[in-house]
Amino acid sequence: MLFFSISVSLLAAAGSVVAAPTLHHHARDRENGTLLLIGVNIAGFDFGCSIHGSCHLSQVTPPLTSLGGVDGVGQMRHFAKDDGMDIFRLPVGWQYLVNKKLGGDLDAENAGNYDQLVQACLATGSHCVIDIHNYARWNGKIIGQGGPSNAQFVSLWTQLAEKYAGTDKVIFGVMNEPHDVPNIDKWVETVQAVVTAIRKAGAKTQMILLPGDDWTSAEAMARGSGPLLLEVKNPDGSTDGLVFDVHMYLDSDLSGTHPDCVTDNIDFAFQPLATWLRSHKRQALTSETGGGNTSSCEKYLCRQIQFFHENADVFLGYTGWSAGAFNPETYHLSEVPTKKGNKWEDTALVKACLVRKPSTSG
Ligand SMILES: *[C@@H]1O[C@H](CO)[C@@H](O)[C@H](O)[C@H]1NC(C)=O
Ligand SMILES: *[C@@H]1O[C@H](CO)[C@@H](O)[C@H](O)[C@H]1NC(C)=O
Repeated sequence: MLFFSISVSLLAAAGSVVAAPTLHHHARDRENGTLLLIGVNIAGFDFGCSIHGSCHLSQVTPPLTSLGGVDGVGQMRHFAKDDGMDIFRLPVGWQYLVNKKLGGDLDAENAGNYDQLVQACLATGSHCVIDIHNYARWNGKIIGQGGPSNAQFVSLWTQLAEKYAGTDKVIFGVMNEPHDVPNIDKWVETVQAVVTAIRKAGAKTQMILLPGDDWTSAEAMARGSGPLLLEVKNPDGSTDGLVFDVHMYLDSDLSGTHPDCVTDNIDFAFQPLATWLRSHKRQALTSETGGGNTSSCEKYLCRQIQFFHENADVFLGYTGWSAGAFNPETYHLSEVPTKKGNKWEDTALVKACLVRKPSTSG
């Protein structure tokens, strides 16, 4: 979900502009002022997953009325139609998809339930991120370093890639927020094994999100896992479609656990990241960011998002945390819209910062 806590130094970095390669299958051009993909998370299938990669399946809360849950499908339709959103990230626990059988087949019922959400997302015309919400772990142990083998994780991704190989707009979110990974070289080997498996399973062009350690912090990527993740390649040696996955919250300890925001994260995180991405001709997607429905978050989150728009050559877009099955009354980072009659009403923060604004760049 969202708990990262890092120590940061406030360093500004100067930018330089280098033309970035494009992903050929995307309709919208990326130019200064036009982010390719904007949207939110539709959470619920991940509920019960802890930062130790333990997932209590009794707490899974599908955001699907067909399964007795909230109307996540209606939420996505609203976000797409009324807010111009075109990407939804759909977190899910590994244990849920294989019904707790590590290395086993996708569970027909559970993977079928999750697929309902994926198909409803695709039906809005949006991109849809399959996000394995396990923090690099299965029941407390790290993949490829004492926990599940790379082969067991590859088995999961091979099956998912086979299932969605024919679907251009599915994005493979390899892993949510790895943290406290002792051996980054080994972690990068794990990520490489998954990328190779996804491509070999027939998903040759879809976007794959590359997760670093440090809770995929946008601040840490360029100096932490990023330099090693640069070496992750497609089987043809290219890096087409391989996009860095970054998260960033704006509260006092950057953990996303407080309703108030204190920073726009630009000088010490996103500006240096933009510079680093440009120098390596690569891109990132911010798959979690957000804040409370407060004036401080409106101020800082809007600034951060404006910075993404101004650097749309390296930032593909964002998915805010979070809509879906959260209770908007009690969850301080809720981006859940509420239905009034036939109309959906967004939170003030979503309206102010996250919806697509008319392009000013022509
Ligand atoms: C995009 O445009 C804004 C406003 O004109 C400018 O401040 C910013 O530096 C530009 N970004 C890039 C990467 O050129
Ligand atoms: C959010 O904050 C605004 C005031 O800034 C308030 O009017 C609104 O009711 C709050 N809640 C939601 C869900 O938007």
